[in-house]
Amino acid sequence: MKRIRTELDDFEIGFDIPAEPGMAENEIQTPCLVVDLDVFERNVKRMRDRCAELGVRLRSHGKMHKSVDVALYQIEHGGAIGICCQKVSEAEVFARGGVSDILITNEIRDPVKIDRLARLPKLGVRVGVCVDDMANVAELSEAVIRHGSSLDVYVEIDCGQKRCGIAHGAPAVALAKAVSAAPGLMFAGLQAYHGSAQHFRGFNERKAAIDAAISQVRETLSMLEQEGIDCPIVTGAGTGSFEIEGSSGIYNEMQCGSYAFMDADYKRVLAADGKPLSMFENALFILTSVMSHAKSGMAICDAGLKSQSVDSGLPVIFGRDDVEYVKCSDEHGEITDPDGALAINERLRLVPGHCDPTCNVHDWFVGVRGGKVEKLWPVSARGKVL
Ligand SMILES: Cc1ncc(COP(=O)(O)O)c(C=O)c1O
Repeated sequence: MKRIRTELDDFEIGFDIPAEPGMAENEIQTPCLVVDLDVFERNVKRMRDRCAELGVRLRSHGKMHKSVDVALYQIEHGGAIGICCQKVSEAEVFARGGVSDILITNEIRDPVKIDRLARLPKLGVRVGVCVDDMANVAELSEAVIRHGSSLDVYVEIDCGQKRCGIAHGAPAVALAKAVSAAPGLMFAGLQAYHGSAQHFRGFNERKAAIDAAISQVRETLSMLEQEGIDCPIVTGAGTGSFEIEGSSGIYNEMQCGSYAFMDADYKRVLAADGKPLSMFENALFILTSVMSHAKSGMAICDAGLKSQSVDSGLPVIFGRDDVEYVKCSDEHGEITDPDGALAINERLRLVPGHCDPTCNVHDWFVGVRGGKVEKLWPVSARGKVL
């Protein structure tokens, strides 16, 4: 076994890392995540350019990839002003990795986590968080005073997702007032993210849901104005709907995440022309190897349930319509192969059904270009769910 030294530590191929730079793609240890760097870079630049055309800022969602390297690329080359994440433990990883502007698009209520959150700005990082409850304002304010820090606070409106978020209008305005008055907290704006709408298949259905969200935000903004409360940012949107929020004149910050990698489910979402979303291409794959072909018509690969999330459906085999991934168990994937086309150890690229939870079960992204490994990125916040 060959040992190589990375910035992090000593790693041994096959034990701790799946590949090393210069290797051919078919030598990579499987199952592992492969990122097609040309496609990834195109996706990131397309989102940067589209947000610039729409005149909105982009705060890419780091919950999708959980990687400091990907986040820094999005900031340096992809027009992102910072990143979003969902958990304090993710924010800590991004902050330590050099991301200096982080919004936790979530509510933090546990006292230990609030304490960790209030300490984060002391690393020289601008940190934002969402609230949907008056008591949380006092909790956050008390913690930042204790630590001599400060937080940007966004009032989250439930604009249709029916998850977190306070009602729009008067309840949201009352909460914004409380944030503005709380020592150590800055009212930074509104968060209005409609998650389920992202994956509505038809464009009209998506547009109706987001238009309803936009009118709730508009009403809240005008009530804030009447109260003399400045609302600098309206943040929300994802890969499936950002065109609608981005052209609303109401939202000015996009939180898109999946666009950088994409997945099989997003390829089932249709654009206004009735065709699958085409602005972003599949850049993320689970590289898998055929490990058994003992039965005719069926090949078994080494990427099963533990290599991916199937909450949004099974993976799709990229670039092949003669074979189909039809079933998975813990460590096995079953692939129909009616013509016996697949060979033992043949590598296949699987497009995961859902990119976010799939990234979370891997240690590395192997970046490939032109069939060769170019770089290895750790999934730095892998498993950070606190
Ligand atoms: C609050 C929030 N904003 C933005 C996103 C990004 O959405 P997408 O990955 O669909 O672009 C998510 C993803 O779930 C989210 O939870």
